[in-house]
Amino acid sequence: MNRFFVPAILIATISGLALTLIVGIVMRSPYTHGNLSSTAGYTRTKVTYQGQTYLWQGMPLAKPAQAQTGDPVKDGQLLFFQYGCASCHLSNGSGGAVGKQIAGDSTNKITNKVREGPSGMPMFTTDMLPDSDLQKIIAFLQSPAASASAGAGTTPEATAPTATSTSLPVQGGPGGQLFATNCSICHGANAAGGYRLGSVVSPDVRWAKLGGDYNSNVSLVTGAILNGTDQAGKDLDPVMPRWKGSLTDQQVSDIITYLQTLTTDAPANQPLAAPAGSSRGAQLFYQDCSLCHGSDGSGGKAVGPATSADLRWTKLKGTYNGDVSLIIRAILQGKDQDGKDLDPAMPRWSDALTQDQVQQIVAFLQTLQ
Ligand code: HEC
Ligand code: HEC
Ligand code: HEC
Repeated sequence: MNRFFVPAILIATISGLALTLIVGIVMRSPYTHGNLSSTAGYTRTKVTYQGQTYLWQGMPLAKPAQAQTGDPVKDGQLLFFQYGCASCHLSNGSGGAVGKQIAGDSTNKITNKVREGPSGMPMFTTDMLPDSDLQKIIAFLQSPAASASAGAGTTPEATAPTATSTSLPVQGGPGGQLFATNCSICHGANAAGGYRLGSVVSPDVRWAKLGGDYNSNVSLVTGAILNGTDQAGKDLDPVMPRWKGSLTDQQVSDIITYLQTLTTDAPANQPLAAPAGSSRGAQLFYQDCSLCHGSDGSGGKAVGPATSADLRWTKLKGTYNGDVSLIIRAILQGKDQDGKDLDPAMPRWSDALTQDQVQQIVAFLQTLQ
């Protein structure tokens, strides 16, 4: 027998074993998930890195419209879950292991605490939690539906708002509520406008300004809201929805009554700013798109009669078959994947953004999961 036979077998066995192990490790590595790549479509759990800051996103509702019924208490109850308040303060705000009891707290206290984020609680900026939603959460917390009693495990159904809750005063009356739901996304919660929407900037619609422009003529302002015609009878930019059919004359009249109560103390709104150190594309996205599509790009917000689209890459890539040039066309010219017009509530950006800037935005969208 060859004297190298036994050593050769040994070496072959050892390297075979080593190879099997290495291949095994590579296949099963959490970075490749090779072992899980089935055609059934396994979505990887998002990796979270230590030492990085992530936006608190709460628990998005399956249907955002569910929280837009017009009843602030009911809506607030859902939003209380959506923004994750319930995870720490329990479902009825009665306080739990992490957060204190907040049911019944005053409007000022809730607003201040939410905006500053006391120790151990995330800070909710107006970007993450708009004033209009916060107002509804407060309406819920101050209603009988929220309660001081120990409420571990109570479901929203179990604490369904009672009939009396609808008679709670809403800030700004019915017109204020209608404005918050339908108009604030573009004109700002304070109605001061100032957001860039394609080739136009949303105007200040507080009466001091609006009344001046329309010569205090309420029926002309009604025409602007219902039919999109300005004081001279010319068409307003198509981004301003035509509300005829969606709002009744009475509702428009309520909104105007509300606008007449607004003073011009609050300054015009500033575009939203991206977190420090963000890419150019992220900065542009925050400034021009996050208003309607959300700072995480998930969309689902009511913009006039339309709903803003989900721009996270898995969704967008699917719709446009991965064709970046078609996505750029959607942004610049408002055409969908088949060349059909998107709803006019999606501004056309060709006058406001360059091809290059839009490319940078799309590069950023590709990072949104
Ligand atoms: C991650 C857990 C967490 C989430 C989510 C959270 N909170 Fe808190 N919250 C806390 C903690 C902890 C405190 C107490 C801080 C302290 O000791 O001062 C607190 C304090 C408060 C207070 C002040 C209570 C007091 O008596 O001083 C209010 C009001 C409040 N939260 C409202 C909210 C609302 C509204 C939301 C949702 C938009 C929310 N919180 C989401 C953890 C949370
Ligand atoms: C999708 C965004 C958007 C929404 C939602 C929206 N608006 Fe507008 N609105 C605009 C833009 C943009 C203009 C300016 C159009 C122009 O300059 O031609 C405008 C113009 C107006 C004007 C005319 C102002 C002027 O100075 O001529 C009024 C009044 C107005 N909006 C009221 C409302 C009311 C009330 C609502 C809610 C019922 C509402 N808007 C909802 C975007 C919006
Ligand atoms: C005034 C609100 C508003 C702003 C601001 C806005 N969008 Fe939109 N966007 C919409 C709405 C509403 C739709 C859905 C239109 C439809 O359903 O026809 C939409 C649709 C889209 C689509 C098409 C998605 C699809 O699935 O077909 C893209 C892409 C898009 N927006 C990108 C952007 C980018 C990028 C910006 C910023 C430069 C931006 N949007 C700013 C309201 C807005």
